[in-house]
Amino acid sequence: MPGDRIVRDLDGLSVGIFNVHGRFYALHNRCPHRGGALCRGPVTGTALPTSDFEFVYGREGEILRCAWHGWEFDIATGHSLVDPRIRAKTYPVEVADGDVYVVI
Ligand code: FES
Repeated sequence: MPGDRIVRDLDGLSVGIFNVHGRFYALHNRCPHRGGALCRGPVTGTALPTSDFEFVYGREGEILRCAWHGWEFDIATGHSLVDPRIRAKTYPVEVADGDVYVVI
């Protein structure tokens, strides 16, 4: 179901698999900041860029926030929202006959 998440050990690698609006993404369960269990953090949205002094919340369900220090990452790309040069490791995901496969 969209919004679902599981964290599994795959060949000794902890990986989080996320269903974001019906598409699947996989991230290494290790935050690039200090090694926290990134994939156990809350899935949220974020403040959208605006041209005015207003707060517009969006992208609900697309952002993963590390529970340790609150760094936010785009689940689809692994990029940090604050500094896109910082990136959580992602893995390709394939779906076949209703099953989800992570390519590691
Ligand atoms: S370890 Fe994830 S934000 Fe610090």
